[in-house]
Amino acid sequence: MGIINLRSDTVTKPSEEMRKAMYSAEVGDDVYREDPTVNELQEYAANLLGKEAALFVTSGVMGNQLCLKVLTQPADEVICEKSSHIFNYESGSPAALSGIQLFPIDGINGEMSDTDVIAAIRPTAAYYMPRTKVITIENTHNRASGAIQSIEQIEKLKKVADDHKLKFHLDGARIWNASVASGISVSKYASYFDTVSCCLSKGLGAPVGSIIASDKATIEHAFRIRKSWGGGMRQAGVLAAAGLYALKNNIDRLSEDHEKAKHLAEKINSIKNLKINLSSVKTNILLFEPLNISVEEAIKKSKEKGLLLSLGTATSLRALTHLDVSFEEILLAGNILEEIFG
Ligand SMILES: Cc1ncc(COP(=O)(O)O)c(C=O)c1O
Repeated sequence: MGIINLRSDTVTKPSEEMRKAMYSAEVGDDVYREDPTVNELQEYAANLLGKEAALFVTSGVMGNQLCLKVLTQPADEVICEKSSHIFNYESGSPAALSGIQLFPIDGINGEMSDTDVIAAIRPTAAYYMPRTKVITIENTHNRASGAIQSIEQIEKLKKVADDHKLKFHLDGARIWNASVASGISVSKYASYFDTVSCCLSKGLGAPVGSIIASDKATIEHAFRIRKSWGGGMRQAGVLAAAGLYALKNNIDRLSEDHEKAKHLAEKINSIKNLKINLSSVKTNILLFEPLNISVEEAIKKSKEKGLLLSLGTATSLRALTHLDVSFEEILLAGNILEEIFG
């Protein structure tokens, strides 16, 4: 057995069947909207998400940033959770690309309370303050160990957004995982939001791409902006075919990834010098702490034994299960951790 790569769920390689779908994809020039496979993917995804329209974009970051761009004007403000991807890992793009600022607030397991969000909304009469325009949430939440946001809390935040005439954006990079784990359909989740961004290249196993979905006018606006950001792809059907294959074949199987994560979490829980909050592992992301050595050292030692982990927070390690890691490899990963930390 070779290297066991649990650094991310983005490390998967397209399967034989996915590659066949890519190879045989009908293509055209998507800048002219003439790529039949891209068009099919967009229609399929819009349907799945219960939205009027969808757009194929290069990445999750592009998806989130396009959505923020079309929902705001320069000098607007977006409320987000402090450990969210949009705030921490998107290179300061809200400021650079849209001229907006983020207002990060504390969450519990990635979930913001409605009272904290209300407190962060700027009074409209205060002309010297930025204008609050959007509330955004992340589901599942990457830095909160793949936590699923509860529908009750989403409903509360939606009411706050409506009461204050704010837009509501979902970073649903892993909305598929949330849906499979909770049994709530992706269209039900998406129904609360003005814009949704979802990744095809994480647990679903496509090599490239994300989808944004919204009403027709908003997607039309995003189509223009995507081109101006250099995101107009030509015969992109080759990539869209992989996304289409992923949506049709790889959603339900995410439950296997969740099982693997649970199994590994239980193993980690039994190892003396590792600490994990077992109840936090609901999908495919594990965060756990080494108790006897630093995280950097832990990553190095694991790598020497053929197990790739990444940094979760300053004090925690991160492991993700995915399509390209078998149950057998998960057992082996557990044994490697036991050797190092047991
Ligand atoms: C929650 C979340 N949103 C957005 C992204 C960005 O996706 P991409 O790497 O495709 O730009 C990621 C990537 O890890 C993510 O975890």
